[in-house]
Amino acid sequence: MNWEQSARVTLPGLLKMRVAGERIAMLTAYDASFAALLERAGVDAMLVGDSLGMVVKGGRDTLAVSLEEACYHTRCVAAGAGRALVIADLPFGSYQAGPEQAMGAAARLMASGAQMVKLEGGEAMAATVRFLTERGVPVCAHTGLMPQAVYQTGGYRVRGKSEGEADAIRRSALVFEAAGAALVFLECVPRGLGKLVTESLKRARTVGIGAGPDCDGQILVCYDALGITPGQLPRFVRNFMDGMGVLEDAVRRYVSAVKSGEFPAAEHSY
Ligand code: KIV
Repeated sequence: MNWEQSARVTLPGLLKMRVAGERIAMLTAYDASFAALLERAGVDAMLVGDSLGMVVKGGRDTLAVSLEEACYHTRCVAAGAGRALVIADLPFGSYQAGPEQAMGAAARLMASGAQMVKLEGGEAMAATVRFLTERGVPVCAHTGLMPQAVYQTGGYRVRGKSEGEADAIRRSALVFEAAGAALVFLECVPRGLGKLVTESLKRARTVGIGAGPDCDGQILVCYDALGITPGQLPRFVRNFMDGMGVLEDAVRRYVSAVKSGEFPAAEHSY
């Protein structure tokens, strides 16, 4: 058994970055070649996002991704990654029935190479987060805009603009932290709320996508950041390929803009 792990980004290592004043740079990845490229360019962690249902499969939403597909793409990314932390999304329908169902799905993703799983939800998911973390599964909780719930919430729009919604998002983040979640993804919320949630969490770290510059880290869908996704993209996206000839250089530019705090700028925040 090879215990040589020193070069790898670990979860405790990610959590310490706030103390060292370093921001976490993440992108999504779906295959081994992109995973290797993102890693060479310096990303700290990669998410095998269920956005694959849209950007890889061409669907209108993320709901049709199966656990088998998530495991397949996780195996591909893990095969290309050697250093960055690999996080995998629990697909819609693979965890909402309860903690035992979530544990079964998380075990399959981890056996496929994930080192952490991500789930979406509000306070109602806290028991599931606790169940997983007490059994050795690192959990990232995703709140704010939750793509798996778009048909309940009425589409892709900024969340947390009203006091009530902002309060619910902040409360869920605190409840997730208390239940053991180590990372909290904040999607498409006003920058003030991103800052407030980040400052409210003691142990867990925030990763923003359209949540302003004050989160502990940033993530974008890699095809969005590289200008590959067709059509109109959300305001929080920046095309890092603009003016660049080489993919790896564009990713380096993204990592350096996250680390320096230059991205996201005011025009990418709500
Ligand atoms: O599936 C995904 O790509 C996500 C985004 C928030 C990065 O969850």
